[in-house]
This record gives sequence, C-alpha cells and structure tokens, in this order.
Amino acid sequence: MKPKRIVRTVISLSLLAALMAIIYSSQTSDSSNPHAAIPRETWIHGPKGHGYAVVNNQQPWKQCYECHEKKGLGGEAYCQSCHDQSGVKAAIPQRPAQ
Ligand code: HEC
Ligand code: HEC
Repeated sequence: MKPKRIVRTVISLSLLAALMAIIYSSQTSDSSNPHAAIPRETWIHGPKGHGYAVVNNQQPWKQCYECHEKKGLGGEAYCQSCHDQSGVKAAIPQRPAQ
C-alpha cells in the first residue's frame, strides 16, 4: 500500500470506531429517561430530587406524566400510589382547568 492509502485507511477506521463508541454509549444509559443518571436515593429523597423538581416547575402533567404513561407507569396515580405507600402527604400540582 502507498503511504497515502495507509493514512486514509487509518482515518476511516478511527471514524468508524468513533461512530461505534457513540452508538454504544447512547445505548448503555437510557437516554429517554431524564433522571436515569441520578442515583435513586437522591432522586426520591434528595433535597434537589423529584419533589424539588416538581415544586419548582409546577407542571408535572407536562414534564412527567406523558413519558411515564408511555412507559406504562401511569400518570398522577403512579406518583400518588408511591406517596400513599410511603405515607407522604405531598401536594402534587394540578393541571389548571382550561
Ligand atoms: C422521558 C421519560 C421520563 C420523563 C420525562 C420523566 N420520567 Fe420519571 N421515570 C421514567 C421511567 C422510565 C421510570 C421507571 C424506571 C426508573 O425507576 O427509573 C421513572 C420513574 C420515576 C420515579 C420513581 C423512581 C423509582 O426509582 O422508583 C419518580 C419519582 C419519577 N419517575 C419522577 C419523575 C418526575 C417528577 C418527572 C418530571 C419532572 C419525571 N419523572 C419525568 C421516565 C421518565
Ligand atoms: C417511588 C416513590 C415515589 C414516586 C413514584 C413519586 N414520589 Fe414524590 N415523593 C416520594 C417521597 C418518599 C417524598 C418525600 C420526600 C422525601 O422523602 O424527602 C416525595 C415528595 C414529593 C413532593 C413534595 C416535595 C416537597 O418538597 O414538598 C412532591 C411535590 C412530589 N413528591 C411529587 C411527585 C410527583 C409529581 C410524582 C410523579 C411524577 C412523584 N412524586 C412520584 C416518593 C415518590
């Protein structure tokens, strides 16, 4: 092989490797779940966990339920059933009447 071809081959191979690395890393974490990267304990009980997120954006029907329903977890009932089990008295913001 001529030197130029070797260089081209090396470049194509490294591009292919980079592409495979991207595809691989996008599949190892659930990219559709925004809180998959947050440790469960932090997300449930942490001072900046899900309660904080909900209280601060106030729109769980927009930010949370759609995806939870799509994943088969359920909307507000899913949140509520865990709160009931844990004895949490949290006011979940309600979608305003339109
Ligand atoms: C794009 C998808 C998606 C969105 C948006 C989303 N969630 Fe989730 N959520 C999931 C999935 C999938 C699970 C179940 C798997 C898991 O435990 O991570 C889950 C589980 C949870 C749990 C239970 C975690 C556990 O370990 O039992 C809580 C609490 C939660 N979500 C809160 C929220 C809140 C609050 C929002 C909005 C601010 C939200 N989620 C938005 C996908 C989503
Ligand atoms: C797996 C259990 C679980 C699920 C599912 C869950 N929660 Fe909670 N939530 C808790 C617990 C436990 C607390 C009490 C906070 C603590 O322990 O520090 C809490 C607290 C809250 C608070 C009060 C926060 C504050 O600072 O007053 C809100 C609001 C809230 N949750 C909203 C939601 C919404 C909305 C969903 C569904 C999208 C949801 N939660 C799903 C367990 C859960």
